[in-house]
Amino acid sequence: MSFDIKSLVAARFGENYALHEQYLNRTLVKVLRTIGFDKCYARAEGCYLYDKDGNDYLDFLSGYGVYGIGRNHPVLKQAVKDALDLDLSSMVQMDCALLSGLLGEAVAKIAGGDRDASFFGNSGTEVNEAAIKFARAHTKRDRILSLNGSYHGLSYGSLSITQNTNFQSGFGPLLPGVGYVALGDLDTLEAELRKGDVAGFIVEPVQGKGVHFPGVGGVAEDYYTRAQALCRRHGTLFICDEVQCGLGRTGKMFAFEHWGLDPDIITMAKTLSGGLVPVGAITARRAIYQSVYSNMERCVVHSSTFGRNNLAMVCGLATLAVLRDEQLVERSHERGAQLTAALLELAKKHEMIKEVRGKGCMIAIEFQKPSGLLLKAAWSIFDKVNKGLFPETIVHFLMKEHRVLTQVAGHNMDVIKILPPYTIGDREIERFVNALDKVLESWRSPFGSVWSFGANLAKHALALKK
Ligand SMILES: Cc1ncc(COP(=O)(O)O)c(C=O)c1O
Repeated sequence: MSFDIKSLVAARFGENYALHEQYLNRTLVKVLRTIGFDKCYARAEGCYLYDKDGNDYLDFLSGYGVYGIGRNHPVLKQAVKDALDLDLSSMVQMDCALLSGLLGEAVAKIAGGDRDASFFGNSGTEVNEAAIKFARAHTKRDRILSLNGSYHGLSYGSLSITQNTNFQSGFGPLLPGVGYVALGDLDTLEAELRKGDVAGFIVEPVQGKGVHFPGVGGVAEDYYTRAQALCRRHGTLFICDEVQCGLGRTGKMFAFEHWGLDPDIITMAKTLSGGLVPVGAITARRAIYQSVYSNMERCVVHSSTFGRNNLAMVCGLATLAVLRDEQLVERSHERGAQLTAALLELAKKHEMIKEVRGKGCMIAIEFQKPSGLLLKAAWSIFDKVNKGLFPETIVHFLMKEHRVLTQVAGHNMDVIKILPPYTIGDREIERFVNALDKVLESWRSPFGSVWSFGANLAKHALALKK
């Protein structure tokens, strides 16, 4: 009997959560059931997911920022099908394949400056690991600095430079020599750099957790420019982690372009894959790259078996072509600005919206304690149980009542983050803003369903800690 994926999917569809409970992460299953995200999606296209009854779900989560060009883009699907039809040789390893060469050329073009040497991996964390190694090899120094609140991935090197105890706890000891500085604090950065042992300073130009960046929250607009200059002065490489904010997400090809930066190393992943085949890239100046592959014995000293596989290269090439041909970077800027403006308008109506901040299609909505006596008291109770419970109720009701997918922006913060595909139009913007309006409206009537769900969630939050 030959393998038939279509029959397999048809026969077993709906067993999703039972299978995961039995064989995969049953704690995640518990969480998804609690927050009402336990759906079975039958298909996806563009900005939408669909269940088997044809109900559409507006995807403002985008697989944590993977679907910049939308789901199942026809150009990508065709490119993958065509590549399969070519029966290409892939992962010969002891050869130089055409497609990885072409993607290297394409990435060098968008990276600009003299950043023209790339290594391809399979994920964001993997290319950040490479960034740590490249920086150490080039500078012959040990230490890496990153920012407070950073997120660079969950393998050991990347986890070590991720300043977040929720992710680190229970997994120590981590990489030695890592230091964290606050976004905006140049004095501490300079004091650290002056020690002369810092190989690299890595930043997410627009930080994923909470969506923070210079120019908001009291951080000087020129912070990155001055930080980069300090790095140059002290022989430290300036590294931009563009895994989430890169490839058009913030309305520029790379988020560092907002501040006219000139990083020594860039890492990218997520959007580059087009959401079909994982691919990550680290792109650096040739001299830095050659410090790693410094002689013939070291020609594969940093490598990854699947790193340059043809299907990943096809997706990278096709995604960059779609971004260019459909002018999606510009569209991310325009639609993101339109969405932000609509949310700022909504904030005038709902005092619970404290701030709307972001760039392009990477937007945070931060909430604050309401002023009404009863609402204020309830907020305080939620806050005591678990900071971040309030945005969790928003995320839940956006899904339950409006079939809109969003996420909380990080641990211990009253912020939701939206990462829509750059292809959103008026319809998607209106649907999201109306949905949020209605959810916030229902918060105003105490003892309504929003409140009872919040109380239920608080109970679960306590239980989940056990
Ligand atoms: C800025 C940033 N860096 C690195 C990573 C890790 O990427 P991955 O999950 O592909 O390992 C992420 C993932 O969310 C990220 O947002």
